[in-house]
Amino acid sequence: SSEQLAREKQLAAAAALRWVRSGMVLGLGSGSTAACFITLLGEAVRAGQLKVQATATSLASEALAREGGIPLLEPRRGLRFDLTVDGADELDPHLRLVKGGGGALLREKVLATASDYWLIVADSSKAVAQLGRFPLPLEVVPFALPWVLDAVAALGGAPVLRMDKATPTHPAHSDQGNLLVDCHFNVIADPEKLAAQLQNIPGIVEQGLFLGLARAAVVARGAEVQVLRP
Ligand code: A5P
Repeated sequence: SSEQLAREKQLAAAAALRWVRSGMVLGLGSGSTAACFITLLGEAVRAGQLKVQATATSLASEALAREGGIPLLEPRRGLRFDLTVDGADELDPHLRLVKGGGGALLREKVLATASDYWLIVADSSKAVAQLGRFPLPLEVVPFALPWVLDAVAALGGAPVLRMDKATPTHPAHSDQGNLLVDCHFNVIADPEKLAAQLQNIPGIVEQGLFLGLARAAVVARGAEVQVLRP
């Protein structure tokens, strides 16, 4: 049930807080599970239990961090993250991920790549044997959209332009003002190969496969928390 999944998100987020030490520079992920983590982190910061600085992967997470009293760092040369905590739409047994359901995949990948330790928090519904059932998100430059749709269709990805939740007659826009395309591959047999193919298509700014980046995943199942490693 959705209440069960909400409890699992909360449980995974609470467990992830144990990875945080005072003095750390943190990356803050996007989505509902990362939001639980940011809220709990803010409580610890305001209680004086933790002293950290952070950068967020979305405007929504940044607003949440600001409300929580978490000091924020602007992007700059040399900025690295001791730990970034982010959610996932799908994760396989090798900790290969699909992300971008919330449209924040570009900043999420920037921070994942700039992090010494990238930690995933997820409810049990995210753990899958094989990636691809969740539509793979792409961030696309508006001018390039028609050719990106053609190229993705040729790869068998059945691309669908994401529409705005509030105004379904308008396309959704990323925090960067780009478009989002959801690709229905259904099964992604070779994630590394597909990632390389997508990265070669001009106009795709980022694609939602996150490979070789996660160091661990905190997955809650019922009342239990499992820590998975690649
Ligand atoms: C945001 O762009 C996504 O990558 C999120 O990390 C993902 O959608 C997970 O969200 P939930 O924690 O809400 O499931």
